[in-house]
Amino acid sequence: VSVEQCFGGKWTEEKLKRLKKYLRAYTIIFDKNVKAKFFITTYVDGFAGTGSRFISKEEEDIMLPFFEDEDVINFKQGSAQIALEVEPSFDRYIFIELNPNFASELKNFRQRYPHKANKIKIIQKDANNFIQDWCSQTNWAKNRAVVFLDPYGMQVEWDTIKAIAETKAIDLWILFPVGQAVNRLLTKRKPPEGIWAEKLTKIFGTEEWKKAFYAEEKQTSLFGSKQKAYAKTANFDTIGKFFVKRLEKIFAKVAHNPLQLCNSKNVPIFLLCFAAGNPKGAKTAVKIAENILSR
Ligand SMILES: C[S@@+](CC[C@H](N)C(=O)[O-])C[C@H]1O[C@@H](n2cnc3c(N)ncnc32)[C@H](O)[C@@H]1O
Repeated sequence: VSVEQCFGGKWTEEKLKRLKKYLRAYTIIFDKNVKAKFFITTYVDGFAGTGSRFISKEEEDIMLPFFEDEDVINFKQGSAQIALEVEPSFDRYIFIELNPNFASELKNFRQRYPHKANKIKIIQKDANNFIQDWCSQTNWAKNRAVVFLDPYGMQVEWDTIKAIAETKAIDLWILFPVGQAVNRLLTKRKPPEGIWAEKLTKIFGTEEWKKAFYAEEKQTSLFGSKQKAYAKTANFDTIGKFFVKRLEKIFAKVAHNPLQLCNSKNVPIFLLCFAAGNPKGAKTAVKIAENILSR
Protein backbone atom coordinates (compact mmCIF):
# COMPACT_ATOMS: atom_id res chain seq x y z
CA VAL A 1 0.00 0.00 0.00
CA SER A 2 1.37 3.39 -0.93
CA VAL A 3 -0.39 6.62 -0.07
CA GLU A 4 2.29 9.24 -0.66
CA GLN A 5 0.72 11.15 -3.52
CA CYS A 6 -0.92 14.39 -2.67
CA PHE A 7 -3.29 16.31 -4.90
CA GLY A 8 -3.98 19.76 -3.55
CA GLY A 9 -6.38 22.46 -4.63
CA LYS A 10 -8.31 20.84 -7.40
CA TRP A 11 -8.89 17.64 -5.50
CA THR A 12 -12.58 17.58 -6.34
CA GLU A 13 -11.71 17.39 -10.01
CA GLU A 14 -9.08 14.75 -9.30
CA LYS A 15 -11.60 12.41 -7.68
CA LEU A 16 -14.28 12.94 -10.34
CA LYS A 17 -11.84 12.49 -13.19
CA ARG A 18 -10.96 9.06 -11.83
CA LEU A 19 -14.54 8.07 -11.22
CA LYS A 20 -15.37 8.99 -14.81
CA LYS A 21 -12.53 6.91 -16.23
CA TYR A 22 -13.55 3.90 -14.19
CA LEU A 23 -17.24 4.12 -15.09
CA ARG A 24 -16.32 4.30 -18.76
CA ALA A 25 -14.14 1.20 -18.55
CA TYR A 26 -16.82 -0.61 -16.53
CA THR A 27 -19.73 -0.02 -18.90
CA ILE A 28 -17.61 -0.93 -21.92
CA ILE A 29 -16.82 -4.31 -20.34
CA PHE A 30 -20.46 -4.95 -19.45
CA ASP A 31 -21.58 -3.88 -22.92
CA LYS A 32 -19.09 -5.95 -24.90
CA ASN A 33 -18.26 -9.04 -22.85
CA VAL A 34 -20.65 -11.89 -23.66
CA LYS A 35 -20.83 -13.20 -20.08
CA ALA A 36 -21.00 -9.76 -18.48
CA LYS A 37 -23.86 -8.70 -20.78
CA PHE A 38 -26.17 -10.99 -18.85
CA PHE A 39 -26.10 -8.69 -15.81
CA ILE A 40 -28.22 -5.64 -15.02
CA THR A 41 -25.77 -2.85 -14.17
CA THR A 42 -26.52 -0.13 -11.64
CA TYR A 43 -24.63 3.00 -10.64
CA VAL A 44 -25.31 4.04 -7.06
CA ASP A 45 -24.29 7.45 -5.76
CA GLY A 46 -24.64 7.38 -1.98
CA PHE A 47 -23.99 11.10 -1.44
CA ALA A 48 -25.17 12.45 -4.74
CA GLY A 49 -25.43 16.20 -4.08
CA THR A 50 -27.41 18.08 -6.72
CA GLY A 51 -26.03 16.53 -9.90
CA SER A 52 -23.87 19.49 -10.73
CA ARG A 53 -21.02 20.65 -8.57
CA PHE A 54 -21.81 23.58 -6.36
CA ILE A 55 -20.12 26.68 -7.70
CA SER A 56 -20.43 29.93 -5.78
CA LYS A 57 -21.42 33.14 -7.56
CA GLU A 58 -17.92 34.46 -7.06
CA GLU A 59 -16.37 31.32 -8.49
CA GLU A 60 -18.75 31.47 -11.43
CA ASP A 61 -17.79 35.08 -12.24
CA ILE A 62 -14.16 34.11 -12.28
CA MET A 63 -14.74 31.02 -14.38
CA LEU A 64 -17.29 32.36 -16.84
CA PRO A 65 -14.76 33.53 -19.45
CA PHE A 66 -13.33 30.02 -19.54
CA PHE A 67 -16.56 28.15 -20.11
CA GLU A 68 -15.65 27.56 -23.73
CA ASP A 69 -13.00 25.20 -22.51
CA GLU A 70 -14.40 21.70 -22.28
CA ASP A 71 -12.27 20.82 -19.25
CA VAL A 72 -13.68 23.68 -17.26
CA ILE A 73 -17.22 22.69 -18.16
CA ASN A 74 -16.43 19.18 -17.02
CA PHE A 75 -15.27 20.52 -13.68
CA LYS A 76 -18.77 21.83 -13.10
CA GLN A 77 -20.25 18.39 -13.38
CA GLY A 78 -21.04 16.53 -10.19
CA SER A 79 -20.71 12.78 -9.84
CA ALA A 80 -24.35 12.12 -10.80
CA GLN A 81 -23.97 14.02 -14.05
CA ILE A 82 -20.70 12.29 -14.84
CA ALA A 83 -22.35 8.90 -14.33
CA LEU A 84 -25.30 9.84 -16.52
CA GLU A 85 -23.10 10.98 -19.36
CA VAL A 86 -20.98 7.87 -19.47
CA GLU A 87 -21.62 5.79 -22.59
CA PRO A 88 -22.38 2.95 -22.92
CA SER A 89 -24.97 3.64 -20.29
CA PHE A 90 -25.70 1.82 -17.02
CA ASP A 91 -29.06 0.02 -16.94
CA ARG A 92 -30.08 1.79 -13.74
CA TYR A 93 -29.06 4.75 -11.61
CA ILE A 94 -29.76 5.30 -7.94
CA PHE A 95 -28.99 8.73 -6.52
CA ILE A 96 -29.24 9.00 -2.75
CA GLU A 97 -29.27 12.42 -1.11
CA LEU A 98 -30.40 13.20 2.43
CA ASN A 99 -30.88 16.94 2.02
CA PRO A 100 -34.45 17.49 0.72
CA ASN A 101 -33.50 20.63 -1.25
CA PHE A 102 -30.66 18.85 -2.99
CA ALA A 103 -32.83 15.80 -3.65
CA SER A 104 -35.44 17.99 -5.31
CA GLU A 105 -32.72 19.67 -7.39
CA LEU A 106 -31.73 16.17 -8.47
CA LYS A 107 -35.29 15.61 -9.65
CA ASN A 108 -35.10 18.75 -11.81
CA PHE A 109 -31.75 17.61 -13.02
CA ARG A 110 -33.20 14.25 -14.10
CA GLN A 111 -35.40 16.09 -16.61
CA ARG A 112 -32.28 17.02 -18.52
CA TYR A 113 -31.95 13.34 -19.41
CA PRO A 114 -35.41 12.43 -20.74
CA HIS A 115 -34.12 9.35 -22.55
CA LYS A 116 -32.72 8.00 -19.29
CA ALA A 117 -35.29 9.39 -16.86
CA ASN A 118 -37.04 6.06 -16.32
CA LYS A 119 -33.75 4.44 -15.34
CA ILE A 120 -33.07 6.98 -12.59
CA LYS A 121 -34.26 6.66 -8.99
CA ILE A 122 -33.79 9.53 -6.58
CA ILE A 123 -33.92 8.53 -2.93
CA GLN A 124 -34.12 11.14 -0.22
CA LYS A 125 -32.84 9.04 2.67
CA ASP A 126 -29.77 8.35 4.74
CA ALA A 127 -27.32 6.52 2.47
CA ASN A 128 -26.34 4.01 5.17
CA ASN A 129 -29.88 2.80 5.78
CA PHE A 130 -30.82 2.74 2.14
CA ILE A 131 -27.70 0.95 0.88
CA GLN A 132 -27.81 -1.70 3.59
CA ASP A 133 -31.45 -2.53 2.72
CA TRP A 134 -30.81 -2.42 -1.01
CA CYS A 135 -27.81 -4.77 -0.70
CA SER A 136 -29.87 -7.34 1.18
CA GLN A 137 -32.91 -7.08 -1.11
CA THR A 138 -31.25 -7.22 -4.55
CA ASN A 139 -30.83 -10.47 -6.45
CA TRP A 140 -27.07 -10.53 -6.96
CA ALA A 141 -27.20 -13.52 -9.27
CA LYS A 142 -28.50 -11.11 -11.91
CA ASN A 143 -27.13 -7.75 -10.85
CA ARG A 144 -23.80 -5.93 -10.73
CA ALA A 145 -23.13 -2.40 -9.49
CA VAL A 146 -20.65 0.38 -8.92
CA VAL A 147 -21.19 2.29 -5.68
CA PHE A 148 -19.62 5.72 -5.16
CA LEU A 149 -19.49 7.05 -1.59
CA ASP A 150 -18.44 10.69 -1.43
CA PRO A 151 -19.40 12.10 1.99
CA TYR A 152 -18.39 15.44 3.50
CA GLY A 153 -16.95 13.70 6.55
CA MET A 154 -17.43 10.58 8.64
CA GLN A 155 -20.95 9.70 7.46
CA VAL A 156 -20.18 6.27 6.02
CA GLU A 157 -20.61 3.47 8.56
CA TRP A 158 -18.56 0.28 8.43
CA ASP A 159 -21.82 -1.71 8.40
CA THR A 160 -22.61 -0.15 5.02
CA ILE A 161 -19.21 -1.06 3.60
CA LYS A 162 -19.67 -4.59 4.94
CA ALA A 163 -23.11 -4.92 3.35
CA ILE A 164 -21.60 -3.81 0.03
CA ALA A 165 -18.76 -6.35 0.29
CA GLU A 166 -21.11 -9.18 1.24
CA THR A 167 -23.01 -8.91 -2.06
CA LYS A 168 -19.81 -10.06 -3.83
CA ALA A 169 -21.14 -8.14 -6.80
CA ILE A 170 -20.22 -4.50 -6.21
CA ASP A 171 -17.20 -2.36 -7.08
CA LEU A 172 -16.77 0.37 -4.49
CA TRP A 173 -15.18 3.80 -4.78
CA ILE A 174 -15.03 5.54 -1.43
CA LEU A 175 -13.59 8.75 -0.06
CA PHE A 176 -12.21 8.00 3.35
CA PRO A 177 -11.90 11.15 5.51
CA VAL A 178 -8.37 10.42 6.65
CA GLY A 179 -7.38 13.95 7.58
CA GLN A 180 -9.97 16.50 8.43
CA ALA A 181 -12.10 14.02 10.33
CA VAL A 182 -10.34 10.89 11.52
CA ASN A 183 -6.90 12.32 12.29
CA ARG A 184 -8.48 15.19 14.20
CA LEU A 185 -10.44 12.85 16.42
CA LEU A 186 -7.26 10.98 17.31
CA THR A 187 -6.23 13.23 20.17
CA LYS A 188 -2.53 13.52 20.99
CA ARG A 189 -2.13 12.52 24.62
CA LYS A 190 -4.50 9.58 24.86
CA PRO A 191 -7.12 7.81 22.75
CA PRO A 192 -10.41 9.68 22.56
CA GLU A 193 -13.33 8.46 24.63
CA GLY A 194 -17.11 8.77 24.48
CA ILE A 195 -18.74 10.00 21.29
CA TRP A 196 -15.43 10.49 19.45
CA ALA A 197 -14.36 6.92 20.19
CA GLU A 198 -17.77 5.63 19.10
CA LYS A 199 -17.49 7.54 15.82
CA LEU A 200 -14.11 6.00 15.09
CA THR A 201 -15.36 2.52 15.91
CA LYS A 202 -18.37 3.05 13.64
CA ILE A 203 -16.24 4.09 10.68
CA PHE A 204 -13.61 1.33 11.12
CA GLY A 205 -16.00 -1.39 12.29
CA THR A 206 -13.60 -2.38 15.07
CA GLU A 207 -12.01 -1.02 18.24
CA GLU A 208 -8.60 -2.13 17.04
CA TRP A 209 -7.84 1.44 15.98
CA LYS A 210 -6.86 2.15 19.59
CA LYS A 211 -3.97 -0.29 19.45
CA ALA A 212 -3.10 0.61 15.88
CA PHE A 213 -2.86 4.35 16.51
CA TYR A 214 -1.52 4.60 20.09
CA ALA A 215 1.48 3.18 21.87
CA GLU A 216 0.94 2.24 25.49
CA GLU A 217 3.68 3.00 27.96
CA LYS A 218 3.86 2.31 31.67
CA GLN A 219 4.99 5.32 33.62
CA THR A 220 5.85 5.69 37.26
CA SER A 221 4.32 8.72 38.91
CA LEU A 222 6.14 11.03 41.31
CA PHE A 223 4.76 9.00 44.20
CA GLY A 224 5.91 5.68 42.80
CA SER A 225 2.58 4.33 41.50
CA LYS A 226 2.46 2.79 38.03
CA GLN A 227 0.31 4.58 35.48
CA LYS A 228 -0.68 3.88 31.92
CA ALA A 229 0.33 6.51 29.43
CA TYR A 230 -0.38 6.71 25.72
CA ALA A 231 1.35 8.32 22.80
CA LYS A 232 -0.32 8.85 19.46
CA THR A 233 1.66 7.06 16.79
CA ALA A 234 -0.84 7.52 13.96
CA ASN A 235 -0.22 9.75 10.98
CA PHE A 236 -2.05 10.14 7.66
CA ASP A 237 -0.12 7.26 6.20
CA THR A 238 -0.81 4.75 8.99
CA ILE A 239 -4.48 5.75 9.18
CA GLY A 240 -4.87 5.21 5.43
CA LYS A 241 -3.10 1.86 5.54
CA PHE A 242 -5.23 0.71 8.44
CA PHE A 243 -8.41 1.50 6.50
CA VAL A 244 -7.16 -0.28 3.37
CA LYS A 245 -6.36 -3.33 5.51
CA ARG A 246 -9.88 -3.26 6.88
CA LEU A 247 -11.24 -3.25 3.31
CA GLU A 248 -8.96 -6.15 2.43
CA LYS A 249 -10.55 -8.24 5.16
CA ILE A 250 -13.96 -8.18 3.46
CA PHE A 251 -13.48 -7.51 -0.27
CA ALA A 252 -12.11 -9.89 -2.90
CA LYS A 253 -9.40 -7.38 -3.85
CA VAL A 254 -8.48 -3.79 -2.99
CA ALA A 255 -6.40 -1.23 -4.90
CA HIS A 256 -2.97 -0.81 -3.31
CA ASN A 257 -2.45 2.77 -4.34
CA PRO A 258 -5.33 4.84 -2.91
CA LEU A 259 -5.05 8.48 -3.81
CA GLN A 260 -4.40 11.06 -1.14
CA LEU A 261 -6.40 14.22 -1.81
CA CYS A 262 -5.17 17.36 -0.10
CA ASN A 263 -6.53 20.84 0.51
CA SER A 264 -4.84 23.98 -0.78
CA LYS A 265 -2.48 23.95 2.24
CA ASN A 266 -1.38 20.47 1.20
CA VAL A 267 -2.97 18.78 4.19
CA PRO A 268 -4.53 15.40 3.33
CA ILE A 269 -8.29 15.41 3.69
CA PHE A 270 -9.51 12.30 1.91
CA LEU A 271 -8.13 9.06 0.62
CA LEU A 272 -9.79 7.84 -2.58
CA CYS A 273 -10.00 4.05 -2.25
CA PHE A 274 -11.24 1.27 -4.51
CA ALA A 275 -12.41 -2.23 -3.57
CA ALA A 276 -13.90 -4.98 -5.72
CA GLY A 277 -16.35 -7.49 -4.28
CA ASN A 278 -16.78 -10.05 -7.04
CA PRO A 279 -14.11 -12.74 -6.79
CA LYS A 280 -14.22 -13.44 -10.53
CA GLY A 281 -14.05 -9.84 -11.69
CA ALA A 282 -11.89 -8.42 -8.91
CA LYS A 283 -8.51 -8.91 -10.54
CA THR A 284 -9.43 -7.01 -13.69
CA ALA A 285 -11.38 -4.37 -11.79
CA VAL A 286 -8.50 -3.63 -9.43
CA LYS A 287 -6.00 -3.59 -12.29
CA ILE A 288 -8.06 -0.92 -14.05
CA ALA A 289 -8.60 1.06 -10.83
CA GLU A 290 -4.91 0.94 -9.85
CA ASN A 291 -4.00 2.17 -13.27
CA ILE A 292 -6.47 5.06 -12.99
CA LEU A 293 -5.29 5.90 -9.46
CA SER A 294 -1.66 6.00 -10.50
CA ARG A 295 -1.93 9.00 -12.80
C1 LIG B 1 -19.38 15.85 -0.94
S1 LIG B 1 -21.07 16.07 -1.26
C2 LIG B 1 -21.36 15.08 -2.65
C3 LIG B 1 -20.87 15.65 -3.94
C4 LIG B 1 -21.21 14.83 -5.15
N1 LIG B 1 -20.68 13.47 -5.07
C5 LIG B 1 -20.69 15.50 -6.41
O1 LIG B 1 -19.71 15.06 -7.00
O2 LIG B 1 -21.33 16.47 -6.83
C6 LIG B 1 -21.88 15.14 0.01
C7 LIG B 1 -23.40 15.12 -0.07
O3 LIG B 1 -23.91 14.15 0.85
C8 LIG B 1 -25.13 14.61 1.41
N2 LIG B 1 -25.32 13.83 2.64
C9 LIG B 1 -24.82 14.08 3.87
N3 LIG B 1 -25.13 13.09 4.73
C10 LIG B 1 -25.84 12.17 4.03
C11 LIG B 1 -26.42 10.91 4.35
N4 LIG B 1 -26.33 10.40 5.58
N5 LIG B 1 -27.04 10.22 3.37
C12 LIG B 1 -27.13 10.72 2.11
N6 LIG B 1 -26.62 11.92 1.75
C13 LIG B 1 -25.97 12.64 2.69
C14 LIG B 1 -24.92 16.08 1.57
O4 LIG B 1 -26.15 16.76 1.60
C15 LIG B 1 -24.09 16.42 0.31
O5 LIG B 1 -24.92 16.82 -0.74
